[in-house]
Amino acid sequence: MPGGLEQDVDEQPAGSGQGGVIFVLENANLETAKVGKNYELLNCDDHANFLRRHGKDPALHRPDICHQALLTILDSPLNKAGKLKALYVHTAKNVLIQINPQVRLPRTFRRFCGLMVQLLQKLSIRATNGPDKLLKVVKGPVTKYFPPDAHRIGFSHSAKTLVAMQEWVQRPELGERPLVFVVGAFAHGKIDDSYVDEYISLSQFPLSAAYALCRITNALEQKWGIV
Ligand SMILES: C[S@@+](CC[C@H](N)C(=O)[O-])C[C@H]1O[C@@H](n2cnc3c(N)ncnc32)[C@H](O)[C@@H]1O
Repeated sequence: MPGGLEQDVDEQPAGSGQGGVIFVLENANLETAKVGKNYELLNCDDHANFLRRHGKDPALHRPDICHQALLTILDSPLNKAGKLKALYVHTAKNVLIQINPQVRLPRTFRRFCGLMVQLLQKLSIRATNGPDKLLKVVKGPVTKYFPPDAHRIGFSHSAKTLVAMQEWVQRPELGERPLVFVVGAFAHGKIDDSYVDEYISLSQFPLSAAYALCRITNALEQKWGIV
């Protein structure tokens, strides 16, 4: 874990009882290395030989999954309607990144890589036109940022309980409790289910992280009448 992390007021748990949602993207492959003269975000397309030379499997270096997943969440009408209370990326190297729901993330992968390299070196990225931190590395574990009454849901195709998301989100027992959704940002594997209350599958098919997130955001938009 990098040192010198800042403790800001917005590191407090997101508000409870407001019916908002928090997303956690788990196990994201965001790893930088000096390739030639510059630091770069390692990925299977640009650094396959570099990764193999260093005894790493290129297939596991897929930061594009995290990029697509973030765009899906940030672009959603759910976020535009102000229902996204917080967004975290937990990397495979145990770095926790807090992302301001208002950030305008680069839409091209190359620019996203540049931004992530900058973030992982400087530990925070400020807005150009103000003091707000749009992205920052914060101390883990991610659970300390959850409201105490939050209901935490983990997602995997291999989960035993298969649900239709539109129906699942309507369950009366959820009430207006804040919801924490944990989705994997990796190509292969399973999310850490040690901190979730429920572990569910939302399709009989294995989906991309972005598509799974689309199902979750769509279901919530329907529940809250966000068109
Ligand atoms: C590319 S998948 C990772 C594949 C991994 N074998 C799995 O199913 O967990 C990325 C993430 O999308 C979510 N996901 C994909 N298909 C899903 C499904 N049918 N049900 C629930 N979540 C799913 C999971 O959170 C998963 O970690």
